[in-house]
Amino acid sequence: MQTQSFVQSPSAIQTRLAPANAETLALASDILAKGGAVAFPTETVYGLGADATNPAAVARIFAAKGRPHFNPLISHVPNQEAAFALGIFNSAAKRLAEAFWPGPLTLVVPISPVCSVCELARAGLASIAIRVPAHPVAETLLKAFGKPIVAPSANRSGHVSPSLASHVMGDLAGRIDLVIDAGATGLGLESTILACLSETPTLLRPGSITREMAAAIVGQLDEVLSQSEAAPLAPGQLASHYAPRAHLRLNAVDIRPGEAALLFGPAHMPGQDQAVQSANLSFAGNLLEAAANLYAMLRLMDASGAQGIAVAPIPVEGLGEAILDRLRRAAAPR
Ligand code: TXA
Ligand code: MG
Repeated sequence: MQTQSFVQSPSAIQTRLAPANAETLALASDILAKGGAVAFPTETVYGLGADATNPAAVARIFAAKGRPHFNPLISHVPNQEAAFALGIFNSAAKRLAEAFWPGPLTLVVPISPVCSVCELARAGLASIAIRVPAHPVAETLLKAFGKPIVAPSANRSGHVSPSLASHVMGDLAGRIDLVIDAGATGLGLESTILACLSETPTLLRPGSITREMAAAIVGQLDEVLSQSEAAPLAPGQLASHYAPRAHLRLNAVDIRPGEAALLFGPAHMPGQDQAVQSANLSFAGNLLEAAANLYAMLRLMDASGAQGIAVAPIPVEGLGEAILDRLRRAAAPR
C-alpha cells in the first residue's frame, strides 16, 4: 500500500479545499484509504477524519490538532449495524441509538471483542465513543469508505470548533490533506455525549439532543461528579477546552469600555453602542439559532482584538444547557 505521500510532517502538506461533490468524495475516500487526514462536514461541526483502524493515520490526527494522546476520539459509522460491531450496547444504549441515530448523539459503550478501531483512537480505554452522523456528506463518505472514521472536531486542540470550512482552513491548512466544503454546519455545537456503561446513562457533554430529550427515552440520567485532569471521563470536557483569546464575562447586563458584545434576544444593553464589536446570537431569542451562531460569533468577537467579550444571559433550559456549557468553558481561567 502506498502511504508515504500522506505521512509527512504536518507543516509540509498542501491542503486542498474542494466543494462537496462526487469527485471530491471519491478523492476523500482514496486519501483516507492511504492513511491521510480529511476534514468533512457533519450536522454538528466539521470533523477531522482518518481511518479508525489505521494507527499511523490516527496518529496524524493527534499531531495535526496538537491533541494530547490521552484524549480519545469518536468513531463515526454509517448506521446502527456498523455501530453494534464496534461496541456492546445495553438496553438503554439501544433505545438511545434507535431514537436519535442518525443524529447529533455520541454513545460511549464498552468495546466489543471484534472492535476494529485501533487502541490509539480509544486512548487505550476499554470503552469507545460512537456516532452515526446525519449529514448527507458524512453519510456518503462513511458508506463509500466502508470502515469507521475517527473524527474529532477539525480545530487545533483548545480552539473553538469549526462550523465553516474556512474555520478549518484557518486552523489546519498545511497540516491535513483535504477539506470538503459543504457550507455552514446546521447545528453548530458538538454532539451530546452519553456514556452507557451501566443501566443509567451519564451525560458527559450536553448538546443538541437535550437532557430532557434523552430522559424521555431512558428516564433519569446520572451526573458526572468531577472531571479529573489525571483520568478525565470525557477529556475534551476539561474546563478550559473551548477557548477564545479574549476573556469572557458571562451574564453581562451592560457592556464595559473596550469590550465586545455577544448579545441574545432583542433587549438593548447599556454601553452596547460603544462595543468594540457586537453580534447577536439570536435577536428572536431562539436557542437553536444561537447554538448555530455561537462558534462563528465567538471567533468574530475574538478577531476584533477586544480585551474582553461580554456575553448576555442565556436561558438555562433545553439547548441553553449546551450553549452555557461551552460558554463557561470558554470563560474558564487558563
Ligand atoms: O459533534 C461531534 O461530536 C464532533 C463531530 C466531528 O462528530 N466531534 C467532536 O469530537 O466533537 P471531539 O474529539 O472534539 O470530542 C470528543 C469527545 C472528547 O471530549 C473525548 O474526550 C470524548 O468525546 N470521548 C471519546 N471517547 C471517549 C470515551 N471512550 N469515554 C469518554 N469520553 C470519550
Ligand atoms: Mg473538539
